[in-house]
Amino acid sequence: MKLKELESILQDCEVFAEPKIQYEQYPTTAHLAARMLYTADTVYDDIEDKAVGDFGSGCGILSIAANILGASYSVGFDIDQDAIAIAQENSDNFETDIDFVLTDLSLDTGVLDRYKGSLDTIVMNPPFGTKNKGVDMVLLKKAIELANHAVYSLHKTSTRDHIMKKAKEWGVTCEVVAEMKFDVPMMYKFHKKKSVDIAVDFLRFEKSDV
Ligand SMILES: C[S@@+](CC[C@H](N)C(=O)[O-])C[C@H]1O[C@@H](n2cnc3c(N)ncnc32)[C@H](O)[C@@H]1O
Repeated sequence: MKLKELESILQDCEVFAEPKIQYEQYPTTAHLAARMLYTADTVYDDIEDKAVGDFGSGCGILSIAANILGASYSVGFDIDQDAIAIAQENSDNFETDIDFVLTDLSLDTGVLDRYKGSLDTIVMNPPFGTKNKGVDMVLLKKAIELANHAVYSLHKTSTRDHIMKKAKEWGVTCEVVAEMKFDVPMMYKFHKKKSVDIAVDFLRFEKSDV
């Protein structure tokens, strides 16, 4: 499948009906989601025939893209039942086969234990930690612990040095795959502008095979 074709298909993904700021619910655009998953698939071979998890799956666009690109298994995790309901509806409409799991990934609930050793790749557009400080790093660390091989994540470019340092500490490689612009439309009451572009890094973490 061509990149443009994937992007065009993903345009039909419904987004949060009533986004919740406490969970930093900002949907990834079809443009970004297609590029993230297409690159993970075609450049790194981390999607097709791989079991793919999606941390903070929201309305499911990253899981849906993984599924369309031939993931052998897809599962999304999110804290919000309303988001999961939309993701499930999207998945039904796209006729994709994805499990969605309701869980707070920042807590040790034991839910992830059942996925230990079974997810090759984890993709995520996590909350950036502006409302819930540090949650981005908590989710990233958990994803790296859980994934068998690679983690793809979006983070504010301003946090790059900190993340690189942490990756070293955690014993994984961290590569800036692309610098992107995350378009935040006017979604919440406190937003004053029609839309704002945030500079984000699309990062790839790889664990050494032991
Ligand atoms: C920036 S949105 C991205 C949503 C979706 N992945 C996408 O790309 O459109 C972040 C998502 O993380 C979820 N989230 C926030 N805190 C969470 C937590 N502690 N555990 C699990 N999910 C969380 C939110 O509900 C939201 O769906």
